[in-house]
Amino acid sequence: MQGIVKVEKIVFGGNGLARLPDGKVIFIPYTLPEEVLQIRIIKNYGDYAEGEIEKILEASPYRRKEPCIYYGICGGCQLQHIVYPFQIEIKKEMLFDTFKRIGWKEEIPLERVIPSPKEFYYRNRLRFHVENENFKMGFVKRKTHEVLKIEKCLLGEEILNKVLSQLYKSTAWIKLSSYSKRIKIETSPEENKVTLIFWTALKPQKEDLKEILEIKELKAIFYWMKGGRPEGPFPEDSSYGGRRVFKNIDGFFYYVQPGVFVQANWDINLAIMENIRSWKLSFEKVLDLHAGMGNFLFSFLPNKEVKKFLGVDTDLRAIEDGLYTAEKARINGRLDLRNISAMEALYEAVKAGEEYDLVLLDPPRGGCKELMRLLPEVAKKYIIYISCDVPTLVRDLLIFKDLKYQLVKLSLFDMFPQTYHFEVVALLEKKG
Ligand SMILES: C[S@@+](CC[C@H](N)C(=O)[O-])C[C@H]1O[C@@H](n2cnc3c(N)ncnc32)[C@H](O)[C@@H]1O
Repeated sequence: MQGIVKVEKIVFGGNGLARLPDGKVIFIPYTLPEEVLQIRIIKNYGDYAEGEIEKILEASPYRRKEPCIYYGICGGCQLQHIVYPFQIEIKKEMLFDTFKRIGWKEEIPLERVIPSPKEFYYRNRLRFHVENENFKMGFVKRKTHEVLKIEKCLLGEEILNKVLSQLYKSTAWIKLSSYSKRIKIETSPEENKVTLIFWTALKPQKEDLKEILEIKELKAIFYWMKGGRPEGPFPEDSSYGGRRVFKNIDGFFYYVQPGVFVQANWDINLAIMENIRSWKLSFEKVLDLHAGMGNFLFSFLPNKEVKKFLGVDTDLRAIEDGLYTAEKARINGRLDLRNISAMEALYEAVKAGEEYDLVLLDPPRGGCKELMRLLPEVAKKYIIYISCDVPTLVRDLLIFKDLKYQLVKLSLFDMFPQTYHFEVVALLEKKG
């Protein structure tokens, strides 16, 4: 079935929203607001439909030819057909729209919108599925489970693409890929090097690893079979135990094992730290409930007012990295990092009657709903909520509102140009 529609807006997820002549909402990918399109309805769901563009009748002035050859097939990017400054406008609207749709009725105190300094080549890690039959590494094709062979990803830093193209030519890696389903290549920016970690069903031969290490950008290889940690580094004398090295806003070095979470767009990570610092919050005790390797916690170190730092994370290797980083910087006693869950940390704080005047939340996509019962006992002044998923953020902010935490301000950071994803940092303050 065909029809002509005008796009109203781009919604969270990246699709354009338009209405069919009977008023039914239709979602169409790769569109822009105000565009007039001839569309084909591909699926009808009762109260909404899905369509695709047959012909653009009136194109937006913000449309451009997408730079990537995989765009439209690859599941990774949704906004490449839009000039970058307008992607930012769209994300801002997505933010406001999501707040309203989920039931936020008050003012949205948006303080800043920060674009990424790099619109391409910004990601410090790329994770690929691996298939040995017709050897390929790639991302899942849009709306399928099929792997799309990727030979260059415009979101990944140049050095990652260099390594990727050499892996395609590496006979040792092609051999090892028979037993591997996944590979991650990650930059170590302060060394201008790359690390590689792959998941495998069979122990690789040392000679094969050696051959892969002839790729001159590679500093270390790890492989993960079973169990709680990978084997590595190879070579064994790889610098910092094979860790990736980053520098924060104070020139403080972070050392992170391959596979441990690091914010994907480092420039934006630094911008988030600067933004939080610009709030000039006064606090003495800080608890980071999703600390990872201590990323945000370490950025509070220059603040001499802070007497107690506690960070927790369920990833043991991230905590190891935080401790390694602290040891290298000779931070003794001031900072505590523990491998327990956010919930356990809250239980322990409640049991001990311990309170914090700043609590940081940086959860995975699912948000923090389960923490709400105990948080008010522990978070006595400020909460900083760093979110990569605005629908769960708003859901949680509504609960916080009932718990008497006021949303003071929030900023939008474009951590992920060309995709519909973005990061939001919200400051909450306990009322009364
Ligand atoms: C988005 S990452 C943020 C890490 C860190 N804040 C950073 O900026 O690098 C989320 C972190 O939450 C951790 N995590 C997931 N579930 C958790 C839980 N129940 N309790 C504590 N940490 C958890 C993950 O291991 C991961 O390190």
